[in-house]
Amino acid sequence: MAFRTAFHAARRCGARTARFAAAGAKRPAAAAGAAVAGGVLASSFLQTPSACQQSSLVDVSSLTKVAKQDDVGLLPQPVTPKYKTALVQIYVTSQPFGGSDKSASGHRYDTIPIANGMIASGMSCQLMHYVPEEHDQFFKVLEGFDAVIVRCNPGQINAAGGNQIKFDDSMRALQKKGKQVWPSPDVMTNMGAKDALCKIANLAIGLPDTLAYYSVQELETGFKKTMAFQPRVIKQNRGSSGEGIWIIKLKSGNYCKNYGDRSCSDDEVLEMMEACDNHQESHTVKEFLEFCVNGRSAMSGKWDTVGTGKYLEGGKEAGGQLVDQRFCPRIVEGELRMNMIGETCTGIIHKKPKAGGISAVGGTGSVYTFYPPDAPEFATLSQNFIGTDIPSLMENLELAGEPLPLWWTGDFINADPGTPGTPCTIDKWIVGEFNCSCVGISKCLPAYCKADTPNATFFDIPVADVMEATYLGNLMGQKAAAILDSDKAKMSPAAAKVVTRIEALRGAACTGVLSKEEAGSLMNKLFDV
Ligand SMILES: Nc1ncnc2c1ncn2[C@@H]1O[C@H](COP(=O)(O)OP(=O)(O)O)[C@@H](O)[C@H]1O
Ligand SMILES: [Mg+2]
Repeated sequence: MAFRTAFHAARRCGARTARFAAAGAKRPAAAAGAAVAGGVLASSFLQTPSACQQSSLVDVSSLTKVAKQDDVGLLPQPVTPKYKTALVQIYVTSQPFGGSDKSASGHRYDTIPIANGMIASGMSCQLMHYVPEEHDQFFKVLEGFDAVIVRCNPGQINAAGGNQIKFDDSMRALQKKGKQVWPSPDVMTNMGAKDALCKIANLAIGLPDTLAYYSVQELETGFKKTMAFQPRVIKQNRGSSGEGIWIIKLKSGNYCKNYGDRSCSDDEVLEMMEACDNHQESHTVKEFLEFCVNGRSAMSGKWDTVGTGKYLEGGKEAGGQLVDQRFCPRIVEGELRMNMIGETCTGIIHKKPKAGGISAVGGTGSVYTFYPPDAPEFATLSQNFIGTDIPSLMENLELAGEPLPLWWTGDFINADPGTPGTPCTIDKWIVGEFNCSCVGISKCLPAYCKADTPNATFFDIPVADVMEATYLGNLMGQKAAAILDSDKAKMSPAAAKVVTRIEALRGAACTGVLSKEEAGSLMNKLFDV
C-alpha cells in the first residue's frame, strides 16, 4: 500500500514537471519574429497547446474499451511523444479472468512495466485490446502508430473467436506501410519454429548435427539413419513445454560406429521419454513413425502420451515438421535460459531437472538458480552468443531487416559429450530453442489473476520486483526508441531533415513555444507553399 501511495504522488509530480518544463521553455528569437500565414497544409500538421494533451495520443475511441478498470500503474503519457506505440493484447471472454495472463484490470500481468518503459523513453504507449469483431477498424486505428508491441499469447486469438492467420496478415500489411511490429509474425514463426535450429546449426551456438524433416520420406530415411548411430531427440514444432519432444534410445544399444554405417529396421525397439512430464514409453521404429505421421492408429500401437502425434500434418507451410538432434547427455545436469532484451542479456537462469528426469520444463519439480548476465561460469557461452552469433542471427533465420525481439529468451543445452557428474572437456552450449512469442516477465506474476487471487493488480507486485520489472521495461523502451530512430535514419537525408523539422515545429506549437500561426508559417516554408 505504501508503494501505491508513493507511486500516485510520483505520478502527479511527473505530470506537473512536464507542464513546468513546457512553460519555462524559451522562445527562439528567429521563430518569435516569423511572419504569420498559417495555410491549410500547415494547420493539418499542427495543434494548439490546449488540444495537444489529448491529440498527442492516437484516437482509439472507435474501438471497444476492454480494460475493466483504469490503466492501473500506467505513467502519464508524454505531451509530445517522440514516437507513438500501441501495446496490443487480447481478452478471451470465455476464459476465467480473460485468459491465464490477466490482471484484474483486463491487461496482461506484465503490460504496465513494458508500457511505462516506452513512456520513460519519451514515447507514448496506448494499451489496446484486439476484439476480433472489430478487426478492420482495429487495424485502421493501428495505422496511426509508429510501432505495435504484440502481447497476445499463442492460441488466445483463436480462443477469442478470432483467426491468428488473419491477424498476422494484417500485421504484415502494417509492416508494409512502414510500421514496426514487435515481434512480427515472421519473427515469431522463424525464431520460434524448431527448424530454426537447422538454420543456426553451424553457428558457435548451434549443433551441426541437427536435421529437419518435412515429408514422410525424409522422416523415415533420416530417422532410421540417425537413430542407428546414437541416442536422439525428436522435436515436433507445434507443442509447448516439452509435449511431442521425444528423447529416444535404442533398447538394444546397438549403435553403429560411424554415421551412415547402417539404418534401423522397422522392428527395432525404442525406449522413449517425453520431455513434458518425463514419462516413458516403448515402441518399435515402425510404430513411432506411424504415430509421427498418422497419430493413433491400428499400426501405431498403444500410446500413453497426452499428445496426438501427426507432427507433419498440413505440410511445411502449416508448420508441419520434425527436428532431429543428437541427445546431449548433460541435460540431466540442467539447461540455461538467457533472458534477452534486443542484444542485451539481462539474466541467466540455470534449470536443473528433478533427479531421474531429463527435462527441466516448469511444473516437473525442477530447481532454478539465477545468475547475473556476466556470470563468469557462462563467459564463453555469452561471448559465442552475444559477441559472435547475434549480429548475424536474424539474417541466418531468414529475417534480415527485422530487429531482434524486444523481449525473448534463448534456451541452451550443454553439448559436452561427457558423462554427467564428470568434469566437462569442452565449454560449449548449444541452443535448444528460442522463445519470442509473448514471453512473460516472471517478476510480474503476482499481478496475474487466479482462482485464489481474483483481484490481482500491478500493485500486488512486491516493490523489489516492480523495480526489476521497471528496469526491464525501461531497457525495452530504450531499444524500441533506438529501432525507431534507426528506421528514420533509413530515409534519404533530405526526407529525414524534413521529418525532423516537422517534429520540431509540432513540438514547439504543442508546448506553446511558437503560436500556431508562427509554426504554420514556418511549416509552409518547409513545404515551399
Ligand atoms: N538435444 C537435446 N539433448 C538433450 N535434451 C534435449 C535436447 N533438446 C531438447 N531436450 C530436452 O527437451 C526439453 C524440451 O525441448 P524444447 O526444444 O525446449 O521444446 P519445448 O518447445 O517443448 O520447450 C528441453 O528443455 C530439454 O530438457
Ligand atoms: Mg523449451
